[in-house]
Amino acid sequence: MTAALTSSEPPLDSDRSFLRVLGGRSLSGELRVSGAKNSALVLMAACLLSRDAIRLRNVPALTDIDGMADMLESLGGRVQRLGDALELDGSGINRTEAPYELVNSLRASFFCIGPLLARMGMARVPLPGGCKIGSRPVEEHVKGLKALGAQVTIEHGVVTAAVPGPSRRLKGGRIVLDCPSVGATETLMMAAALADGETLIENAALEPEVVDLADLLVAMGARIRGAGTASITIAGVDRLHGADYAVIPDRIEAGTFLLAAAITRSSLRVAPLIPEHLCAVLSKLEQVGCVLDYDDDGGLTLSAERVTGLDLRTQPFPGFPTDLQAPFMSLLATAEGTSMVTESIFENRLQHVAELQRMGACIRTQGHTAFIEGVARLSGAPVQGTDLRASAAMVLAGLAAEGSTDVYGLEYLDRGYANLEGKLNAVGASIVRCSPTTKAGPSALAA
Ligand code: UD1
Repeated sequence: MTAALTSSEPPLDSDRSFLRVLGGRSLSGELRVSGAKNSALVLMAACLLSRDAIRLRNVPALTDIDGMADMLESLGGRVQRLGDALELDGSGINRTEAPYELVNSLRASFFCIGPLLARMGMARVPLPGGCKIGSRPVEEHVKGLKALGAQVTIEHGVVTAAVPGPSRRLKGGRIVLDCPSVGATETLMMAAALADGETLIENAALEPEVVDLADLLVAMGARIRGAGTASITIAGVDRLHGADYAVIPDRIEAGTFLLAAAITRSSLRVAPLIPEHLCAVLSKLEQVGCVLDYDDDGGLTLSAERVTGLDLRTQPFPGFPTDLQAPFMSLLATAEGTSMVTESIFENRLQHVAELQRMGACIRTQGHTAFIEGVARLSGAPVQGTDLRASAAMVLAGLAAEGSTDVYGLEYLDRGYANLEGKLNAVGASIVRCSPTTKAGPSALAA
């Protein structure tokens, strides 16, 4: 077990911005949940399927969304933000080759391969490669596109897919996924929407973002049945038209907010959220001792006094989401008793353990499992968020810690949380964004 460091230790990387979180404050009030990042990204890619304009509402202001907008524009599309809406115009799509830098910096932009192929009969998209949390292969996407009649080659790190024949139209087919990949299900649903004939995707992902994509595609004129089950049927149509569509609330942001209430032993209302999207998380929150109070206006108030440990394992939906594993571990680090957390989706997603140990958490790992002995108090320290959700986990830990915690890794955090510190400060937290030149002295922290 690594001993806790104090916030007087030098920052891990003095060239970068960080959040300075002053811990130990009780929170109260309401946190508003933005639109779902993972939905919005794939819904944006779906605009490649139509020449008509698509208006997406409830799109969060995130750097990942900007990255996907850059990708669409690099292909000839136009994206305009109007408040929380995006106007997407796919009439000018005239390129089929996605730039390496954009796919490399935003993995989800690989999912453009499906709609590009369906609309243009051709796509060249660099392999996204692995990322901090694991190797993240895309062979299920490739296998499925081949089943729809595409000829696919992978050379020099680029996936080239083309539809043979004069019609350049994919053909419906039966696809059985080896694992229920969210991205592959989405890629293939988009590809099949314009294919000739019927496609059946078996062992499909059940995630709410898959259903959200199906709902948008149906609003554009697609014929899709079974989204949200393991068997999705798509009857291809000749063309898809424009639509006006609102993205679902972000279940991972909502879960993070509920955990902010739990870890500070406070009471917070979180809205809007769809409880069915969070069933495994809500059940675990109740098991650790939180009290949940649902209201008729799409909100949920979580109150926490005592929190006790438990065991959890990440699983595909409707199981416990891997994206809330790190944030939930921050809570368990402060719970009474012992807990066991097993990460079963991504092979390298326990890197936050070492950072929580820096804050005095008592955790040891074996393989993909973390064994946690709750401590009465975490202590503030400089910590590094090693991926998007690990960064959020560090902010949560900082809220509960004694003293101040400097959270580095904001380039990850800003990809998935819109104005996290602003939202948390509005309910009583004290978090200051510091650039290397900012002197975050006591006056800034008192804000
Ligand atoms: C999506 C989410 C991500 C979330 C993940 C799992 C987006 C933009 N991202 O990622 O936040 O953590 O779902 O809920 O929506 N796999 C293969 N072969 C493949 C594809 C996937 O083996 O061809 C494996 C992966 O290595 C992983 C598992 O399947 O172990 C789940 O991955 P997948 O569902 O594809 O995740 P993403 O769609 O990339």
